[in-house]
Order: sequence, then structure tokens, then C-alpha cells
Amino acid sequence: MQFRSRIVGIGSYLPRKRLHNNDLQEMVDTSDEWIIERTGIRERRIAGEREAASDLGYKASKRAIKDAGIRPEQIDTIIVATMSGDMPMPSTATLIQGRLGARNASAFDINAACSGFIFGLGVADSFIRSGMSRRLLLVGVEVNSRFIDWQDRTSCVLFGDGAGAVVMEATRSKAGIISTHLHSDGRHWNLIYVPGGGSRHPASEATVRDRMHFIKMRGNETFKLAVRTLEELAVKTLKANRIKASELSLLIPHQANLRIIKAIAKRLDLPMDKVIINLDKYGNTSSASIPIALDEAVRNGRIRKGDYILLMAFGSGLTWASALIRW
Ligand code: UT7
Repeated sequence: MQFRSRIVGIGSYLPRKRLHNNDLQEMVDTSDEWIIERTGIRERRIAGEREAASDLGYKASKRAIKDAGIRPEQIDTIIVATMSGDMPMPSTATLIQGRLGARNASAFDINAACSGFIFGLGVADSFIRSGMSRRLLLVGVEVNSRFIDWQDRTSCVLFGDGAGAVVMEATRSKAGIISTHLHSDGRHWNLIYVPGGGSRHPASEATVRDRMHFIKMRGNETFKLAVRTLEELAVKTLKANRIKASELSLLIPHQANLRIIKAIAKRLDLPMDKVIINLDKYGNTSSASIPIALDEAVRNGRIRKGDYILLMAFGSGLTWASALIRW
């Protein structure tokens, strides 16, 4: 039988500082009621002044490695999904590798924005299935707060910081990653983007003055596309694996907006007690949201051996992706 990849350890890390909707009311023209009603978010975590992506990612990785009961030297590949790495180079993955002492691993970043963790899962799964990797660390980490315009009420209420990590191994068992489905449509690149700081508009006094290093988002258009695309993707993923929505034990969606999540659950006729929600506590942590939610689900005993779990995400690019896992 061919190898499959399986999650054998999981961990997450959230920075200590909490920013409540009431705090945002003091900063921009918004209200706790509006944010809860339109998004479901109540508070989010913000990295400390000295904390960058690799610090959060390192802490989540240490927990995942401990959970897997392995040593860092046994890892052969480290993939970090992030759009808010410590610096343009080197990769955040190499920074985490160095601190872990995972000296036998190759390490690199991928960027698929909020879909980053599932894209990473797809890459990790192919590495393991092909025999290129036997034991891999996959991290989703974001310090979104550094890219937020705290004067823009349409985006600053949405995002938060955090990290989640999984250790994956080759297995011959029936459990593991059953399938991943990765999609992109670059025609919509300008629905969510950070215009400044790259080779198009390198940092200059003008880019700073024009607030080009912050996230720009056309929220409502993104929202409508997210609902439609994710509903279609959920149906397609189940169909590809010939399983019914009623056979799913859990849906773990990217935590962007409660209304988007409810629409997908409704389309699948899935009761909300089968859906993991933690955006009320953490907001949208982009590529970290799914591994954080998965970690909490495991810790809270929400996942049992043999369960079918559907992961889904949508984000800048545009990108969208799903993964079906048998635990
Ligand atoms: O993770 C990556 C993917 N990202 C997403 O999936 C985000 C998708 N988008 C969303 O979650 C929602 O579009 C938002 C939560 C961002 C906005 O909700 P919406 O229902 O789409 O509202 P809207 O943008 O249509 O704005 C409605 C009104 C506007 O006022 P007018 O023009 O009707 O007078 C906005 O100016 O709400 C206003 N508004 C706010 N009011 C109070 C926008 N932001 C705020 C705010 N507080 N923070």
C-alpha cells in the first residue's frame, strides 16, 4: 500500500495581549455590537513589541514536537505558511529551524495568505506520499497586527496574531490526510493586499506616508466570493471522496467571519455543534487559524480516532482550499 501522511503531534501559541472590541471603540468609529453582529469577533490577540512570527511559530512548534514525542533532529522538512514573516529574507522557516536545532531539516516558507495552512498541508502530503519526506513540521503563523492600519475601521477589527503547528509522518494506516484541494484566482488579487514594501513599491517615505504597508481590503466583495466559493468547494470535496456531509464529525473552517462559516454549515446541512468556532477569541489569524482551531479541538476531546474532519479556507490571492482528514 502507498504511504499516506498523518498528523502525529499538534500545538499552538497565542500571544498574551488581548485586544477587545471595546478597546477598538476607543481607536476608530466602531462598536462592540457592530463587530459581533457582522463578524462574530469579540477579541483578538496581539503579539508583544518584541515578538515576531518566528517567535510565535517556534513556541507552537515546540509544543507540536513534544506532543509527537520526537526530537527536532528527526524532522527532515519544515514548511512555514505565513504572509507576515520576520523579514523578506531569510525565510521564517529557517529561523524556526535554527532555534529548534532541527539540523537535518530543509526549511522554506509558502505564502497562500489565509489558505496557507491547507496549501502547506497539500505540499506536505505530497512530500510524504512521494517518499521525499518521512517526518515533517508544518507551521501556520501570522503577526497580522504589524500590517494593520489602526485607522481603518473596515479592516482593523478583523485580524489577530497567533501560531499553530503540526508534525506529520508517513503512515501505512487508513487514517491521515485523505485529500487536499487547492485553488487560486489571481484575477482578484486586489480584493485583499498589502501594496507597499515589495518590489512593486519598495519602502520609501512616500509609501509610508501613503500607508501602503498596511492591509487593504474590499470586504463585502470578498465576503460574497468567499461564501459562494467555499460552498462549492465543500460539496466538491465530499463528492470527490464519495462521503456524505452527515458522515463528517467536524468542520474546521478558516476563522474569518461567523456569517461565512454559518453559510457553509447551512449548505452542508451540518449542525453548528459540528463546527469549530474560535474567532470570538482570536479574530482572523490567517494561516494560523486552522491549526489553532485543530489544536483546541484535539485538546478539548472533540476529535476521536476514525473521525472524518473537513478543513476549509479562503483568502488573499485569491486562494481557497480544503482538506479531508481521517483522524
Ligand atoms: O481571511 C481572508 C478573507 N477575508 C474575509 O473573508 C473577510 C470578508 N469580509 C467580511 O468579513 C465582511 O465583509 C466585513 C466584516 C469586513 C464587513 O461586513 P459587511 O457586512 O460586508 O459590511 P460592508 O463592508 O458592506 O459595510 C456595511 C457598513 C458600511 O457603512 P455604510 O456604507 O452602509 O454607511 C461600512 O462603512 O458598515 C460600515 N462599517 C463599519 N461600521 C462600524 C465597516 N466597518 C465598520 C466597523 N464598524 N468596523
